[in-house]
Amino acid sequence: MKLPEQMKRLGVIVGLFLVVVITRFFLLPESWISARPHQAAKVVREMAKPVHYAGMMTCRQCHQEEFDAKLAGYHRTIGCENCHGPAAAHVANKDDKAATPPKHREREFCLGCHGYLSSRPNGFPQVDGQAHNKGKRCVSCHDPHDPKPDEAPKDCGGCHGLIARTKAVSTHSQLPCTDCHQVPELHTTDPRSHLPTKPETREACARCHDTASTDPAAAKARVDSASHGRTYACWECHYAHLPEGPK
Ligand code: HEC
Ligand code: HEC
Ligand code: HEC
Ligand code: HEC
Ligand code: HEC
Ligand code: HEC
Ligand code: HEC
Ligand code: HEC
Repeated sequence: MKLPEQMKRLGVIVGLFLVVVITRFFLLPESWISARPHQAAKVVREMAKPVHYAGMMTCRQCHQEEFDAKLAGYHRTIGCENCHGPAAAHVANKDDKAATPPKHREREFCLGCHGYLSSRPNGFPQVDGQAHNKGKRCVSCHDPHDPKPDEAPKDCGGCHGLIARTKAVSTHSQLPCTDCHQVPELHTTDPRSHLPTKPETREACARCHDTASTDPAAAKARVDSASHGRTYACWECHYAHLPEGPK
């Protein structure tokens, strides 16, 4: 019997379909198809890796003094192993001298976080490694577990140096920072948790600069604050710490 041409083609398609189905469900091993064995294998693989870090709480068991000092000081947010490197081997065998964690006493180590970089957040304590007590080890003056300058800087410029220096040569040089910012007392010792206020309304500037103002010092710099600069905040056009703009 001669099959019609189209039946042959249909037969090929059905045949292929069956091959695919049989391969997929009966021939291929499960691990080729399902993600589950992979995941399980990965957990086993990861668990087989050696553990390098022990975690800060482990250090406390034997180094209570360093732990307490650090927790109360400026370095409280930094883990022990951030500075001493992975120390699991040391914890596992404290008598193994080869595994005793290194103590980085070289200047470069501290400057990695504290060297001056303009991209660091405003207020982060930075020093210029070329100028700040050059030639001496940082740890000869600062306890790495409880670093602090002799006392917290009283001056705003101790932490906001660029702003203070800018304002000092501006027409606002005579204005104390606190004319425009209310500063909680704790800001100088725990700055990020107690932020000062910043001016919010045009009135903060207009009280000295409006044509109706009676502030004698600003007599030469008066504007009609109802119309001048329309409704934009004054500091969108005038940088408050250098209001006349760069020369
Ligand atoms: C089981 C107790 C124990 C634990 C836990 C422990 N240490 Fe130690 N550590 C010691 C002893 C004991 C020494 C002194 C060994 C020596 O001088 O070689 C030491 C020495 C050190 C030193 C070097 C001190 C020096 O003067 O050279 C550093 C740094 C250190 N440990 C950091 C850590 C860190 C970080 C952790 C947590 C990850 C930690 N240790 C956890 C017992 C411990
Ligand atoms: C900011 C980096 C830094 C951090 C964070 C830090 N250390 Fe240290 N640690 C050092 C340096 C630097 C020295 C060496 C000090 C020296 O020789 O004067 C040191 C010394 C030590 C010593 C030797 C004893 C001593 O006081 O000289 C021990 C023990 C120690 N650290 C444990 C710890 C433990 C435990 C923690 C966490 C609670 C920790 N360190 C956190 C930098 C750090
Ligand atoms: C992993 C980054 C890191 C390393 C390494 C580091 N520090 Fe710090 N340091 C900090 C942070 C974060 C603070 C807290 C800053 C804050 O409160 O805004 C700080 C605060 C300080 C302060 C207090 C300054 C102030 O007026 O607020 C001193 C001093 C200091 N560190 C010295 C050192 C010395 C010395 C070393 C080297 C042994 C060192 N640091 C290593 C991150 C680091
Ligand atoms: C001879 C002692 C001495 C040495 C060495 C020293 N410092 Fe200082 N450091 C001070 C004193 C004092 C202050 C507080 C007064 C000041 O700001 O100059 C200070 C302030 C700081 C501050 C706070 C600055 C701020 O704006 O709040 C940091 C951060 C700092 N030092 C880090 C370091 C680092 C990092 C090194 C090493 C590269 C180092 N210091 C070396 C004595 C020292
Ligand atoms: C010990 C260091 C330190 C001293 C001293 C200090 N500040 Fe700050 N200040 C900071 C830090 C850190 C921040 C937070 C910066 C950030 O989060 O970007 C900050 C933030 C501010 C802000 C911004 C608040 C905000 O919401 O963005 C103002 C305004 C300010 N300080 C004003 C002052 C004035 C005025 C003084 C002096 C009376 C002063 N600061 C003294 C460290 C200090
Ligand atoms: C004439 C009023 C005025 C004076 C004086 C003043 N500021 Fe400001 N300050 C402002 C205004 C306005 C802003 C911006 C507010 C905003 O962007 O929301 C600001 C913002 C800041 C900020 C936030 C970061 C930034 O650059 O925007 C800091 C930090 C700050 N001032 C610190 C100081 C310090 C320190 C002094 C004294 C040396 C000072 N200010 C003096 C008005 C003033
Ligand atoms: C406590 C009063 C006072 C406050 C508040 C104040 N200023 Fe001033 N401002 C002055 C004095 C004083 C001068 C200097 C006037 C002179 O040159 O004789 C000045 C100068 C200026 C100038 C310079 C004009 C020029 O080119 O000579 C501008 C712009 C200015 N302020 C904008 C502002 C802005 C914006 C604010 C709000 C963030 C503000 N001021 C808040 C007192 C103040
Ligand atoms: C849209 C931008 C803009 C805004 C917003 C703005 N100003 Fe001005 N301001 C200027 C320009 C541009 C000048 C210089 C040209 C002029 O004198 O009009 C100026 C000039 C000034 C002067 C100097 C006037 C003189 O006689 O030398 C003062 C003071 C001043 N502005 C204060 C303010 C105060 C206060 C506010 C908020 C109430 C404010 N400005 C808002 C753009 C602005």
